[in-house]
Amino acid sequence: MKIIRTVSALNQALQPVRCNGDSIGLVPTMGALHEGHAALIRKSIDENRCTVVSLFVNPTQFNNQQDLQLYPRTPEADQQLLEQLGVDLLFAPPVEEVYPEPDRRQFDFGLLDKVMEGAYRPGHFNGVAQVVSRLFSFVQPDKAYFGKKDFQQLAIVREMTHRLQIPVEIVAVPTVREPSGLAMSSRNLRLTPRQRENASQIWRVLQNSLLHQGNFTPQELAARVADEINNIPDLRVEYFAIVDGYSLQPLTSWDESEWPVGCVAVYCGEVRLIDNIRYR
Ligand code: PAF
Repeated sequence: MKIIRTVSALNQALQPVRCNGDSIGLVPTMGALHEGHAALIRKSIDENRCTVVSLFVNPTQFNNQQDLQLYPRTPEADQQLLEQLGVDLLFAPPVEEVYPEPDRRQFDFGLLDKVMEGAYRPGHFNGVAQVVSRLFSFVQPDKAYFGKKDFQQLAIVREMTHRLQIPVEIVAVPTVREPSGLAMSSRNLRLTPRQRENASQIWRVLQNSLLHQGNFTPQELAARVADEINNIPDLRVEYFAIVDGYSLQPLTSWDESEWPVGCVAVYCGEVRLIDNIRYR
């Protein structure tokens, strides 16, 4: 695996791949890699001749400086995992390489970023769009791989590529879970064993809510799910919304959507976790 820190070295490494017309898969990450990332990477390796993994903790998507500082960083273990998986190129640039000057672009996502993560983390998706659009222009991948755990991010990235007419296929990969049901996330590294156990109840409550879908409106069910999670020690719901999977707008009736999705953000102690579930 080649480890690359600059855009010019990346271009040099990708030149023969591009000349051969071989397909390039990109897996953008912020490191602290886990089985969820490995699933994205394996799919990219299956589907492309060359897989590039980017590892860059993007400062512009953190609206909270403390969150940026505390974001887990495990570069040696990441490198080892990427080697084992058979990744071709690891692109791990410093901040100045990605942003030689500040990125002042403001993206318009319509209503997609006015709810949920967008409402609670102002500027977050603008930062995600800044970095992902830059990574797309550096790597020029045929396909790029994103996890379904970040459901709203996936919608935003699709919208951005559509609006900017970037010729890349966005591939969505199912959430990978711990045996306990806890969605894999780099942030899980910051949980104590007890918190981890309590956090695994989030998925249990979400799954259980599927059984009650017929008895409640989406708003009633959302309120019940939030209450149930709030009753678990260490957990504090920031939001739980049942939204249409395309527009991401909250549903008042199940008939409004053929793709209802429940999206949750929960603080477990100081650690903010997200997850989602598809309703019928
Ligand atoms: O999902 C993430 O890890 C990040 O938001 C991404 C897509 C790598 C952009 O920094």
